[in-house]
Amino acid sequence: MNRHKTVLATLVFAGLATCTVLAQSSGADVYKSKCAMCHAADGSASSPAGKAMKVPSFLAPEAKKASTADYIAIVKNGKGKMPAYASKLTGPEIAGVVAYIRTLQKK
Ligand code: HEC
Repeated sequence: MNRHKTVLATLVFAGLATCTVLAQSSGADVYKSKCAMCHAADGSASSPAGKAMKVPSFLAPEAKKASTADYIAIVKNGKGKMPAYASKLTGPEIAGVVAYIRTLQKK
C-alpha cells in the first residue's frame, strides 16, 4: 500500500515537472521567434537589428530592476520602435515570454 502511494506521488511529481518544462519552452520559443532578432538570443541586444535600433540590453543593472508588470505593459502596448504585441500574442504568451526574459537576466 505504501509503495503504491510512493509510485503515485512520483508520477504526479513527474507530471508537474513536465508541465513546468513545457511552460518555459513556450516562453523561450516566443522569444526566439519574435524577439531575438532585436533583443538578441541572450537579451544583450547585440544583434545587428538591436544595434541599429539602439535596443536597450536586458542584462543592464537598470533593466534587471524594472518590474515584471512594466515589462508586460511594454510588450502589450509597445514603446518607441518596440512593436506592440497585444494583438499578436495571448496574455499567457506575453507573461511567458517576460518570464523567459527574467531567466536571461539571472544568468
Ligand atoms: C523590431 C525590433 C524589436 C522587436 C521585434 C522586439 N523589440 Fe522589444 N524593444 C525594442 C526597442 C527599440 C526597445 C526600446 C524602446 C524604447 O525604450 O524606446 C524595446 C524595449 C523592450 C522592453 C523594455 C525594455 C526596457 O528596458 O525598457 C521589453 C520588456 C521588450 N522590448 C520586450 C520584447 C519582447 C518580449 C519582444 C518579443 C515578443 C520584443 N521586445 C520584440 C525593439 C524590439
